[in-house]
Amino acid sequence: MQGSKRQNTTDWLISQNKYQSKKTNQKAKTISITAGKGGVGKTSVSVKFARMLADKGYKVLLLDCDYNLSNTVVKLGLPVTNQFYELISAQKEFEDCVYKEGNLHLLSGCNGNIDLFNKSLEIDRIIIDILVNHEKDYDYIILDCPAGITKETLTLNAYSDYRFVVVTPDKSSVTDSYSLIKILNKEFGVNDNHLLVNKISSDAQYQRMVKTLSETVESFLKCRLHILGKIEKVEVPVDQFDSLLLDQANSSLHKNFTKLISKFTEEIEGTSGRDESPMYAKFSSRAQNENRFTI
Ligand SMILES: Nc1ncnc2c1ncn2[C@@H]1O[C@H](COP(=O)(O)OP(=O)(O)OP(=O)(O)O)[C@@H](O)[C@H]1O
Ligand SMILES: [Mg+2]
Repeated sequence: MQGSKRQNTTDWLISQNKYQSKKTNQKAKTISITAGKGGVGKTSVSVKFARMLADKGYKVLLLDCDYNLSNTVVKLGLPVTNQFYELISAQKEFEDCVYKEGNLHLLSGCNGNIDLFNKSLEIDRIIIDILVNHEKDYDYIILDCPAGITKETLTLNAYSDYRFVVVTPDKSSVTDSYSLIKILNKEFGVNDNHLLVNKISSDAQYQRMVKTLSETVESFLKCRLHILGKIEKVEVPVDQFDSLLLDQANSSLHKNFTKLISKFTEEIEGTSGRDESPMYAKFSSRAQNENRFTI
């Protein structure tokens, strides 16, 4: 039963042409920012990574997969809209639903949209359909995933080229992320993930977490955990965190992110052997709605 379920998922992922995309170097690298537990910093990491990659000259799409509790717009200080619903119900084109700030494009979700709430959606397929139609136009696509281990979220994680599992020193965060990595491995055949430790208070604490998690994952699951790095816990009032995150380029928080991004881009440029130069020229005006998955 498990085997056939996995086979179906694998067939479907292949049918979405994902494996071919890895060979052709024509498409964006998709990164899921994910975690078992809520509140660990997924949206903060997504928004900051997207902004910094865009500042480096890459063309970036940030896609909010928390599709009816969207927080990316809130963090960026933008208004909440219903454009995600309008896109997937074919009332609007992708181009008209994306907020653009230089190289950074944002497809936000809705927030408490009743029509969206009342639809029974295969949100994983809808989002993968959006990716398939637009991954040629970007260097990176960042998926800000909702917390938890729903089938939909894990399918999006499995579809992605990279998964950044965000963990905090809270024991339940570690336990829940281990569960996420385990199900990704057992049900989807995913055997490598990146670990990003957020809200760290000391280097000793970070080292302990890395040791515990990587040993557990490697010995019990035979999975690889790439250690991306840490982000310190900053002691600012909660309502000032977002402006520190996005505005203060000289803060130690910003320096933490600079290190993480350099490590990641060096890793993938070093190992893939692919040309990683930004693809501005590839931002084509091709028809966007072929094969669109609508509700
Ligand atoms: N490094 C940090 N230091 C201090 N506070 C942080 C840090 N990272 C995130 N936070 C705070 O943690 C809270 C949760 O952050 P965020 O919304 O990014 O998490 P999330 O994982 O996306 O949550 P959800 O599961 O609800 O989507 C926010 O109040 C944010 O300000
Ligand atoms: Mg979030």
